[in-house]
Amino acid sequence: MYWKTARTPQLRTLPIDETTRDAARLVFDVAQTKLRNLATNHPDYLPIFTDGGHWVHDKEKWTNWGEGFTPGQMWLVYEQTKSPEWKELASHYTELVRGRELDVETHDHGFLIATSFKQQWELTGDEDAKQVAITAGRTLGGRFLESCQMIPSFIAPESTFIDVMRNIGLVFWAALETGDEDLLRRARAHSRTTRRHLVRGDGSAGHEGQWNVETGEFLRMTTHQGWREDSSWNRGLAWSLAGFTECYALDGQPDFLATARLNAEYWMTHTSNDDPVPPNDFLEPDPVRRWESSGAVAAAQGLFHLARYVDDQDEAKAYHERALATFRRLAEPEFLALEPEWEGILKHGSYHERKNLGVDESVEWGEYFFVEFARDLLADWR
Ligand code: GLY
Repeated sequence: MYWKTARTPQLRTLPIDETTRDAARLVFDVAQTKLRNLATNHPDYLPIFTDGGHWVHDKEKWTNWGEGFTPGQMWLVYEQTKSPEWKELASHYTELVRGRELDVETHDHGFLIATSFKQQWELTGDEDAKQVAITAGRTLGGRFLESCQMIPSFIAPESTFIDVMRNIGLVFWAALETGDEDLLRRARAHSRTTRRHLVRGDGSAGHEGQWNVETGEFLRMTTHQGWREDSSWNRGLAWSLAGFTECYALDGQPDFLATARLNAEYWMTHTSNDDPVPPNDFLEPDPVRRWESSGAVAAAQGLFHLARYVDDQDEAKAYHERALATFRRLAEPEFLALEPEWEGILKHGSYHERKNLGVDESVEWGEYFFVEFARDLLADWR
């Protein structure tokens, strides 16, 4: 969501073989078909997850945090095709998200607005869209709690989520774009609080941290979507790995790069090039579902970009190879929904195992980051 507006110079470009690029083209083809069908069969609907491969309409969603991913994918398809039809569709679906930039009840402004309005500005130069994105960055930064030096999650003031790290790029971007030093201070402070309390020494990440909001004392780590409080939720680690990489790409602080590398070390040692897609939680014994693909694609995209920023050539090569191996695996028919009756693009994702929401299904952020990673693999600006 922020790779294009990165300010830290990249150290290298790395080769992308034709097999991987062909896989990226195939993902775009499938995405176009599925998105067109979504717009035809479920007009103006912004889905979050499927049930048996069909977009769910009337089930509990826990929080409304996924609406930007549909217009976001449409902008990515427009970027590839330059077709006026996709521009019109993406603009229309972006308008459906308008208003969320002012939503003070969520911590997901990046997922909602960087995907939709920020991309609209990047691809069309629309100034109004840019202002909406800046407003969203200010709204998220405005949630900052001085006593705890963090931005609370939607749950309560005393809670923050690792997920915020994949949204906070919008706060960095808005602060840097407008020269707002206090906003930048908040973004850095939240990231450092997360690094201190939610990222562990072995590079794994907790999901939720809880504080005493009066004294600012950190109390404990907990989880909603992982196996248990002290375990290692795959997607939480992916949000941290890619999030700290993006914050480094935007703001160039060395401790952000160090945190991303620590996360990457955990990811790399708990997956392999032959088996790159982990289950929902790395520590769950005998996981019921073999895979959680949305975290895998988000982490792989993070590794792909991190490879451009680390000093060590061998480390960079290992990240790059793992990122490409993961993408190719996810583009195999076991994961890529070539069959027309499955409405999503990427199978075997899970939203919330404990609540039994979207488990072993297509999930809208998995779709978005799959298509965004395909864009990165084909882009000439990278
Ligand atoms: N932000 C919630 C999730 O990753 O499922």
